[in-house]
Order: sequence, then structure tokens, then C-alpha cells
Amino acid sequence: MKDKLLGLVPPMGWNSWNTFNTAIDEKVVRESADAMVETGLRDAGYEYVVIDDCWSLKKRDEKGRLQADPEKFPSGMKALADYIHGKGLKFGMYSCNGTMTCARYPGSFDHEFTDAQTFADWGVDYLKYDNCFKPEINGYMLYNRMSMALRSTGRDILFSACNWGRDDVEQWIRSTGAHIYRSTGDIRDNWRWIKMIALSQLSKMPYSGSFCFNDLDMLVCGMYKKGNHAGIAGGEEPVCTDTEYATHFAFWCFAGSPLMLGCDIRDMNDATKQLVTNRELIEINQDIEGRSPRFLGINPETPPEFFWGVRMLSDGQIALAAFNFSDKDRTMTLPLFNVGLPSSTGKGLLARECVTRTDAGVFCDDITQKVEAHGCRVFRCKIIDAK
Ligand code: GLA
Repeated sequence: MKDKLLGLVPPMGWNSWNTFNTAIDEKVVRESADAMVETGLRDAGYEYVVIDDCWSLKKRDEKGRLQADPEKFPSGMKALADYIHGKGLKFGMYSCNGTMTCARYPGSFDHEFTDAQTFADWGVDYLKYDNCFKPEINGYMLYNRMSMALRSTGRDILFSACNWGRDDVEQWIRSTGAHIYRSTGDIRDNWRWIKMIALSQLSKMPYSGSFCFNDLDMLVCGMYKKGNHAGIAGGEEPVCTDTEYATHFAFWCFAGSPLMLGCDIRDMNDATKQLVTNRELIEINQDIEGRSPRFLGINPETPPEFFWGVRMLSDGQIALAAFNFSDKDRTMTLPLFNVGLPSSTGKGLLARECVTRTDAGVFCDDITQKVEAHGCRVFRCKIIDAK
């Protein structure tokens, strides 16, 4: 038995892709690690600094090993890992189950054990494993193969599978040993995409839990369309408002998704900093029992755009959340009967609203909230005797 279990709660960190795309280098990664500490992100629980695609040379070395691009990473990956570890953080990297990565750098297909050893030798703690240029072999076998390769190194490496929710991945991914898996396509920095991803996950929640969480993709909170590639902004869609980013963050927290920041954490405004370090939302995300929420009143034929969710927490409290993804302000009522607390139980809920971090009083029989378009409320509730 190990003393620390990888994947017990969703990982938290930063990933280079959303903002930097191909323009990733040692300077950006070091400065982001510095920022992680200086801005209080590390103290709020963020720990992984992850380099996504485009870090390697296009050719393997004479022993068939991946090599870091020396122009982008002149000190090499081992030195970078040491730097990151020296800050009390962990280091993540990226590869792919196909012959090439999505940006056409060498992939790990048929090099899995060599590459896993290279990552372990460099001090890597997290591997994101993509799905491009995959041979005609079933995905289960490819993810299983890399999982075994990582495990056989003897190093604790969190395995992040990324097949975009395809091939009924939720049916088989947990058995591969992946600690998290992408249950959706790539996110874009706009409300339309955030909403689409959130709604796509309502029926997928039962698959998510400790040791294999649904990954709703990197957060776009605080990007304000400043990512350096066209794809991430997603065309002509408007820039997200802070309300929309707050709902995005709250939903990812409530759903138990990994929390991987994608904005430039060296340059966050106050609203972003406050939001992504909101301890009350993070505590729900990081709850040690890792239970997924249940969303209520969901009709599979007509996905609702505003709904309540319930999540059981490990300390005997429950989290209740109202999400309004629709374009109108809504008055949302949750009869407590629907969560098993009718007034005949003699119980009520003492609630704290976690987005605004304010006490919300006692609710008996029902909770009614006015929730603005694209807004949300997330309550952490203690069960008490109703007066
Ligand atoms: C895929 C993944 C993204 C990112 C890119 C890199 O699209 O889903 O998250 O890693 O590849 O090329």
C-alpha cells in the first residue's frame, strides 16, 4: 500500500495550452511556476505546472528517446523539473497515443515504455496523453499500455487521458488506471462552449469519482480572449463576463473536474485571482470522498438550461447548486422534498453561499433563488433541526 494515493481528489494546476499554444518555452514555464507561488495559487491548492504540446524536437535521439527542443528549453527538462519541485510544485508534461501529437511532434505509439522512463528520469509527476494520429487499434489498449509503462517506472505519475470523450470512453477508462479523463472535446474561451461542455456532462456525472474523474477540460477563467491562437477564442463569440467565468469555475468545482488553469497566471486581474482562489468552491471540488453530484429534474430528451444539483460531502454537509445557463433571469425553486428532506423530517438546512462567500440563513421546505442569466448559486449546507 502507498501512503499517498494519486487521484483521490481532482488535480489542480496550470496548463500551457490555452494561452501559449506552440509558443511555449522555459521562461514562460518558470515564470508561471513563480506566479503560482506569488499569487497565492499554490496556497489555494494548485500544484501541477503542465507543459502541453510543442515542447520536443521533431526527431527522437539515437536511442529512440524524446528530446526537448534546446532552443525552447535550453536548461533541459530535468533542470526545469528541479526548479518547479524547488517551489513545492509538481511538474507535468504531454504526449500522445498516436505516431504524432496533435501539433505533429513525435507521439509515443510503440515507444511507451521508453517514453515513460524518460519522463520518470526527468522528474515528471503528471502526464497528459492525447489521442491524435492514433493507429487503428482500440483506445483502451493504448491507454492501458501507457498506464502500465508509467506504473512500471515506480514513480508516482498522475495519468491524464485525453480522448475527448470519444469511443464510449467512460465505459472503459477507469479500468486502465487513468486518474482523470477528458469527457468532452476541447474548450473554447467563450460562454457558448462553456455551456455546451457543462450541459454535455449532466448525464455523465455518475462515471466520475475518485481515481478517475471526468475532466471537463482546462479552465478559461480570466483569459478574456487573450489566448494566442484562433481556435481557443472560438470565432466571433463575445468575451466572457466575470459572471460567466464564475459560473464556469463553480460548475467545474461542483462537478469534481480537475481544475487546470489556462489563463496567463503571470497576469491575472483581481477578479480572476479572487475567483480561482475561492476556497469554499475549491473545498467542494477537493472533498475527500470525491462524490459526483446528481442534477435534478433532467429530462434526457430536452436538456434543461437551468437546474439544481446536489452533492454529498464527507463531513455530513451537502452542497446544493442552482445553475442558470439560460439567457433569462430565473426564479429557481428546489423543493427539499426532492432531496429527501420534506418538512416531516423536522430538519432544515443552514446554508452558506460559496460564490459570494456569505451566510444565506436557514431553508426549510424549499430553497428559492433569483438567479441571473448565466449565473449560479452554490450552497454548502448543514442539516439542522427546523424551528
Ligand atoms: C488536443 C487536446 C488539447 C491540446 C492539443 C495540443 O486538441 O485535446 O487539450 O492538448 O491537442 O495539440
